Amino acid sequence: MKIARFSRLGFILAAAGSAVGLGNIWKFPYITGIYGGGAFVLIYLFTVLLIGFSVMIAEMLIGYMGRKDGVTSFEELAPKHSGMWKFGGFQGLAGLFIMTFYSVVIGWIFHYIATSIFYLPSSAKEAENVFTTMLHTGFTTQLFYHTVAFVWITYVVNKGIKGGIEKMNMILMPSLVIILSAMFVYATTLDTFSKAVDFMFLPDWSKINSEAFVTAVGHAFFTLSLGMGAIMTYSASLPKDANIVKNTLWVVFLDTTIAIVAGLMLFTFLYQYGAGPAKGPGLVFISLPAAFYEMGVLGNIFAVLFFIALAFAGLTSSVSLVEPMVQYFIDRSGWSRLKASVSMGLFFYLIGIIVILSNIDGYKEFLTWGGKNLFDWIDFTTAAIMLPFGGLIMAIFVGFVIDKKKVESIMRPQLKFAFDIWYFSLRYIVPVSMFVVMLNLMGII
Ligand code: TRP
Repeated sequence: MKIARFSRLGFILAAAGSAVGLGNIWKFPYITGIYGGGAFVLIYLFTVLLIGFSVMIAEMLIGYMGRKDGVTSFEELAPKHSGMWKFGGFQGLAGLFIMTFYSVVIGWIFHYIATSIFYLPSSAKEAENVFTTMLHTGFTTQLFYHTVAFVWITYVVNKGIKGGIEKMNMILMPSLVIILSAMFVYATTLDTFSKAVDFMFLPDWSKINSEAFVTAVGHAFFTLSLGMGAIMTYSASLPKDANIVKNTLWVVFLDTTIAIVAGLMLFTFLYQYGAGPAKGPGLVFISLPAAFYEMGVLGNIFAVLFFIALAFAGLTSSVSLVEPMVQYFIDRSGWSRLKASVSMGLFFYLIGIIVILSNIDGYKEFLTWGGKNLFDWIDFTTAAIMLPFGGLIMAIFVGFVIDKKKVESIMRPQLKFAFDIWYFSLRYIVPVSMFVVMLNLMGII
């Protein structure tokens, strides 16, 4: 069967669309808030450069060389023990697990798009009430919008790489950039903009502990869509003459810039209109709407636009979280795309319903263990464990398992002198860092 290939721009937008997601606009600002700003941002940027960059090139290379679904690519590229290495491709399951809560959050965003035009809460207290009421009692609302997200995502994935994923990214990504740029420009005119710059760039090391460190590393993986085969699956459809390094540079650049721009903009609004930074996962759902209220009618417009941009970011990432396993069932089990898309969709949709319940009064008590509910557990295990583990496997696979000559023949012409640095980083820096992260998680250091 002939695979439809991305166009050049189509690939960059789709890969950037995967990377730029709720992680950039929702999660990055709130974890930056929790861990005190500048120092955390610095660790994150450092991880992106030192580890994220190398792993993304490695992941793209596996897809590019393998040209198949993740499992088959691992299997065919491994010179021996291919039966074991193919499990590297099952990291795609992590994507479906991420989707179980990702789709729920996209649902909240849809709900906010629908309500923000006529109503914004007039104080932080009220905003908190609105959000927690939805979270703890609004089962039907959340279920309804989760269903909308499921239908939308499944529809696009079913249309395939070219007619679905590329097409959606070609429209939604530029729209997102335009919306965020416009709001960012407005933010730069406010007095508190410089305060936001200070918060995000002046390091305050007092809030940095090992937890902050692990969160920063996990987030670097999450935000760049690394470690589960999304980038790998997309790059199986790269044009033959594609330059992996240039593509990686674009994706890392767009992802990082959009996270920083979103962060600066949000903190400016929060300083200017009251609420201050550290508010946790409710940041964009609680503090921000209250800040928008203070802006008057412009606030209503901004609120709707902001949530539309956030939904776009989420949807373009979602399709990349589902596609690896869809591709697997098409390639390996001979399923039709329709059957594969609907089955994978139902998988995250149905578990997603339990994830919603894990926040609902009367149910959450049964879905909480060790202080974390199902929602938090899935978020934590995927971002902090499965993704770094996947990244580790990919780094070792390219660094030690695939024949160095083959890797070098593709990558040396693109990386030039930096080839040796990259290869060294894959072999030693990435594995050691991932090892430290894991030891830390197990409470050993
Ligand atoms: N990068 C996306 C975000 O920041 C999430 C995401 C999409 C993802 N695809 C992925 C994370 C693959 C890990 C792996 O929201």
